Amino acid sequence: MPTISKLKAREVLDSRGRPTVEVEAHTSSGAWGRAIVPSGASTGRHEAVELRDGDCDRHLGRGVMRAVRHVTEELGPVVIGIDVDDQSAIDVAMIAHDGTPSKGRLGANALLGVSLAAAHAAAAVHGEELFVHLNRLWRERLDPGEPADPVLPMPMINMISGGLHAGANLDFQDFLYMPISAHSFAQALEKTACVYHTLGGILKEKGHEAHLVGDEGGYGPRLRTNAQAVDRILETALACGLEIGRDFAIALDVAATHFHESGTNTYHLSATGEEALDAAGMTSLLEHWVKQYPIISIEDGLAEDDWEGWTILTNRLGKSVQLIGDDLFATQAERLLIGVERHAANAILIKLNQIGTLSETLDVLHLARRNGYRTIVSARSGETEDTTIADLAVATAAGQIKIGAVTRSERLAKYNRLLRIEDYLGSKARFADREMLGFA
Ligand code: PGA
Ligand code: ZN
Repeated sequence: MPTISKLKAREVLDSRGRPTVEVEAHTSSGAWGRAIVPSGASTGRHEAVELRDGDCDRHLGRGVMRAVRHVTEELGPVVIGIDVDDQSAIDVAMIAHDGTPSKGRLGANALLGVSLAAAHAAAAVHGEELFVHLNRLWRERLDPGEPADPVLPMPMINMISGGLHAGANLDFQDFLYMPISAHSFAQALEKTACVYHTLGGILKEKGHEAHLVGDEGGYGPRLRTNAQAVDRILETALACGLEIGRDFAIALDVAATHFHESGTNTYHLSATGEEALDAAGMTSLLEHWVKQYPIISIEDGLAEDDWEGWTILTNRLGKSVQLIGDDLFATQAERLLIGVERHAANAILIKLNQIGTLSETLDVLHLARRNGYRTIVSARSGETEDTTIADLAVATAAGQIKIGAVTRSERLAKYNRLLRIEDYLGSKARFADREMLGFA
């Protein structure tokens, strides 16, 4: 089997115009693969470390030349000669060489670049689509009889952005649309694109700034309240002739860590003014939202270390609502196991760069599956033309994917990749529809 023969790395720019790491992994057969690492803005405290240069003369200190050098000078000598098909051996060798729990010595951005480029190279060696190769890696983890076939994911699509992703005044980070009546990925995208454009018109009509968009392409209007964002989406869907709850549902990414004060363990929403909420208060607020609106999914409804709060939230809402841990779990097996033990959340967001290697990401996906947690593969707010997550979601039958709005090419690259995969699979294509996902 061909081995890794050479690594190349360079600094490129992401969708926010910030530097990120691109890696090319070459093999002894001549086949090679390339990957680009994404970057978050509302990053959690428990994420693997993204190494930045801190040199203010370049890119306001955000350069990644140290990570780039680590790819060729530190990781190259470690992975060269390893069978390119042996993803675990590649990742284990890099983790050991970094030697820190956070991957902070060499940078998770350096490790992930190599890890993903190696997977692309292995797919190229076999002359296979990436999702076929990733599905093989996935099957290695499954017990006999566990479902193993690729499945196209249900998208949750960003309509309105707030929080740290948009300059306006909304506390909640994402107001997302889920086309739950769709029977294929193409249909899901088609239905949602229409709603997205109509929403732009409605915002404009009501005097809001429909031309302002957040980092992920969602509209970033200056609305008075969080609730208004949902109201505008509902009005739009109705104007499109869609039926609430039957054709579509709403998902929220509250990203509560960014308005949580850890000293007092309280939540500070602009809507409640001076009055801070504790976890029980936040839970009541979210419960009220769920009663009022067709919300089927809430991400980071509480802060990343508020385990006690998460247990309250999950006990109160977990039977009827998907509760996703993003900052809470940071795609880490250890944190997911704490969640399982404490009955915190019932779904996990999967971001490759929160953990830093492909193998560990596949392991967390499998751990979640085994423990009955739903899985949502996710892009970051800083993205590029790299489409690896589309293949990852299909290969592992993750069920759901969160990429951003249906505009901006760094988002569309992934949506279009999913359309392509659905097309390649033809009559074999299966889509994670409402029934498969178990949404009531
Ligand atoms: P991030 O946002 O990439 O800025 O962390 C995505 C999310 O919070 O889901
Ligand atoms: Zn999030």
